[in-house]
Amino acid sequence: MTAPLQLSRDEMQALGDRALDMVIQHFETNRENPTARTLSREEAAARLHTSLPERPTPPAELLELLAREVFPNAFHPDHPRFYAFVPSPTNFVSVVGDFLMSGHNIFSGHWLASSAASQIELTVLEWLREACGLPATGSGILVSGGSMANLSAIVAAREARLGGHDSTAVVYCSDQTHSSMFKGLRILGFGKNQRRAVATDEHFRLSVPALAEAIAHDRANGMRPFCVVANAGTTNTGAIDPFDELADLCAREGLWLHVDGAYGAAAVFTERGKTLLRGLGRADSITLDPHKWLFQPYELGCLLVRDAATLTNAFSMDDDDHADYLADVSRHVQQDVNFYDRGIQLTRGFKALKLWLSMRTFGMAEFRRGIEVGFEMAEEAERLLRADGRWSIVTPAAMGIVTFRWHEEGRSAADLDAVIARTADRMRADGYAMVMSTMLKGRPAFRLCPIHPATNAGEIAETIRRLTAFAEQESAQSTGPG
Ligand SMILES: Cc1ncc(COP(=O)(O)O)c(C=O)c1O
Repeated sequence: MTAPLQLSRDEMQALGDRALDMVIQHFETNRENPTARTLSREEAAARLHTSLPERPTPPAELLELLAREVFPNAFHPDHPRFYAFVPSPTNFVSVVGDFLMSGHNIFSGHWLASSAASQIELTVLEWLREACGLPATGSGILVSGGSMANLSAIVAAREARLGGHDSTAVVYCSDQTHSSMFKGLRILGFGKNQRRAVATDEHFRLSVPALAEAIAHDRANGMRPFCVVANAGTTNTGAIDPFDELADLCAREGLWLHVDGAYGAAAVFTERGKTLLRGLGRADSITLDPHKWLFQPYELGCLLVRDAATLTNAFSMDDDDHADYLADVSRHVQQDVNFYDRGIQLTRGFKALKLWLSMRTFGMAEFRRGIEVGFEMAEEAERLLRADGRWSIVTPAAMGIVTFRWHEEGRSAADLDAVIARTADRMRADGYAMVMSTMLKGRPAFRLCPIHPATNAGEIAETIRRLTAFAEQESAQSTGPG
């Protein structure tokens, strides 16, 4: 009898070949398929739920089931016409990287177990650190995504500026800061009275005078300001906060400056991104998600810090934490990098592999070209929208995002808002392109984020043609001028 859970070489080959074909097929036909499909809870259960399987099922049958019922019934953020939220275009090399990572299952928690893999992670972090303009003292850690990076940044900031928990500590964000930051603060035990969502200006940028006023007010009331969170490309509009002014203010006030560039910081690899993000390197910490504008499959986020020691101070274990089973590890490699000392996880995969493999395979010139497409397609969309007087631009193309509203003389705001909501539903049902709305200063607006490197001007034009046609129809059906 063979050992449990083992496949023969032929079985592995056959299963691997079939899975590889499925992924290649996905890459080749993605563009022809709908951008999104969602099952109801009942439909999903009817098609997929089974009781705990005691007996085996041929894996080829299961792959068929996945191809038929699972993969199509999802949003496809890697679709060339997925323009909603922050899309996640991928690349085939990184997909292979994920397969190799899983297949070799390297424990990347400490140096002793993963010296070469840890070196690759350090190298990748070095590339990102340099691009962001952080000094050589800096480094970071790869994590699951922006939420985890933002949460970890607050842990580092709290340790560095406060030395631990303090119920009077205050964090300052803007009213455009991503919700993950507020969630992270809650998880870390910050009450609502310990966070401020500072007003933004007419360009959705954090207002420095409003921030300075909030800090002074809090100090006068016995609170302890310790951290400012700035945005390098807000999710809503791509707005970039004024880093230099914020860094000056933080230096004067002794505050930690965290920049959430989960979406936008990757643009720093391009010339125009570098110009737009001037001052980014003055941050104490930066979130940058390779699974957004660096074309990596989920899950890959990154936290960079100005001083690597701030991460180890925040996350390394003390002697009285009783990690007795790690005694050999810590004795052996005191001076080496143990990633478990830089973040929350002990056991972690070789996250750097796919990013390293794709960056080396393509070279950064190719990535730069890919990022540029996002800038250009958002500009193309803005040009087409401006050419039709019924669309009004709310925020012009910025960091690959443009926002806009349907506008008709004599219609009430409520009427126009309803047209946007119904048009968004029509677009999603249509399936050609994924476009969704957001709320800007209390009013709904469409938002286009066309950062897939393979999207093109023809697809942008067709998307806007359909949006316009649906908006016209929905507008005609609404209750008329008011
Ligand atoms: C600016 C920003 N920060 C943080 C996040 C959260 O990142 P994740 O969803 O990878 O946890 C996002 C997600 O879109 C984002 O756009």
